[in-house]
Amino acid sequence: MRFVFLSALVAFAQTNPHTAAADADAGGKIFRSHCAECHGFRGEGGKGPNLTTGVFYHGSSDAALFKNITDGLPGTAMPGVFFSASQVWQIVTYVRTLSKTGSFQAPAGDPGKGKALFASKGCGGCHLVNGTGATNGPELSFIGSQRPVDFLKKSLQFPNDTVDQAFWTASATLENGTTHRGFVMNEDTYNVQLLTSAKGLLTLQRKDLRKYEVNKNSAMPAFRGTESELTDLVAYLWTLQRPRSEQ
Ligand code: HEC
Ligand code: HEC
Repeated sequence: MRFVFLSALVAFAQTNPHTAAADADAGGKIFRSHCAECHGFRGEGGKGPNLTTGVFYHGSSDAALFKNITDGLPGTAMPGVFFSASQVWQIVTYVRTLSKTGSFQAPAGDPGKGKALFASKGCGGCHLVNGTGATNGPELSFIGSQRPVDFLKKSLQFPNDTVDQAFWTASATLENGTTHRGFVMNEDTYNVQLLTSAKGLLTLQRKDLRKYEVNKNSAMPAFRGTESELTDLVAYLWTLQRPRSEQ
C-alpha cells in the first residue's frame, strides 16, 4: 500500500521521466493494442475523442495525462489501465507525439444555421444541450469534444452503426402480459435492468419473463436533409465543447 502511494506521489511530483524516442515507440505499441479501438490507430478519434489536436479538456499537463490514462475518466467510456508507471509515462510520450500532428480547426459549415436546424428538426425532443431538451438519447452538451467530426456525421446519417450498448432498447413481457420497454442498462444470467421512461430503472428477473427482445438499432431516426444541412448541423455539434483545462 505504502509503495503504491509513494509511486503515485513520485509520478505527480515529476514531469515525464520517459521521453526518449524508444519510449515513444513502446508507448505507441501499447496505444495501438489498448487505445486505438476508441481513439483510432493514429489518434484521429472514433468512439473516443481525437487526440491529435493538442487540446485536452481533462488536463494538459504531464501529471494530468498520467492520471487520466491511469485512472480513466469516471462516468465516461474511458477506462483505466493496469500498466506500470513507466509504461504509462511511455504512453504519455506517445500521445504527445500525436498531438503535434493535428490542428484544432472548426469544421466547414455554419454553426448558426446548424443550431436552428437542431431546433427545427426536433433533436431537442431526445437530447439535452446545456440544460434544455429531453433525455431520450445521450446528452450532447460536450459532444464536440467527445467525438471527432467524422463520427458525428456518421452518427446522424447512419445511427444504427454507432449505438452504444446503453442505447439498445428492449421489450420485456411478463407472464401476466405486461410489457416494459426501455434502454438496456445491464444484463446478466438472472436479471435484466431496463431504464424505462414510465417507471425509471426497472430490474426484472429473467424467469418471470415470457418474452424478451433486444433491439440493437438506434432509437434515433437517420437525418434526412441536404448535404449542406448535414454539414451545418455537424458544425453546430462541434461547437459543443468542454471548457479546456490548461493544467
Ligand atoms: C472504450 C473506449 C476507450 C478506450 C479503450 C480508451 N479511451 Fe481514452 N477516452 C475515451 C472517451 C470516450 C474519452 C472522452 C471522455 C469525455 O470527455 O467524455 C476519452 C478521453 C481520453 C483522454 C482525455 C482527452 C482530453 O481531451 O482531455 C485521453 C488523454 C485519452 N482518452 C487517452 C487514452 C489512452 C492513452 C488510452 C489507452 C491506454 C485510452 N484513452 C483508451 C474512450 C476510450
Ligand atoms: C427519437 C429520439 C431522437 C431524436 C429525435 C434524435 N436523436 Fe440523436 N440519438 C438518439 C439516441 C437514442 C442516440 C444513441 C444511440 C445512437 O448512437 O444512435 C442518439 C445519438 C446521437 C448522437 C451520437 C451521440 C454520441 O454520444 O455519439 C448524435 C450526435 C445525435 N444523436 C444527434 C442528433 C441530432 C443532431 C438530432 C436531430 C437532427 C437527433 N440526434 C435526433 C435519439 C434521438
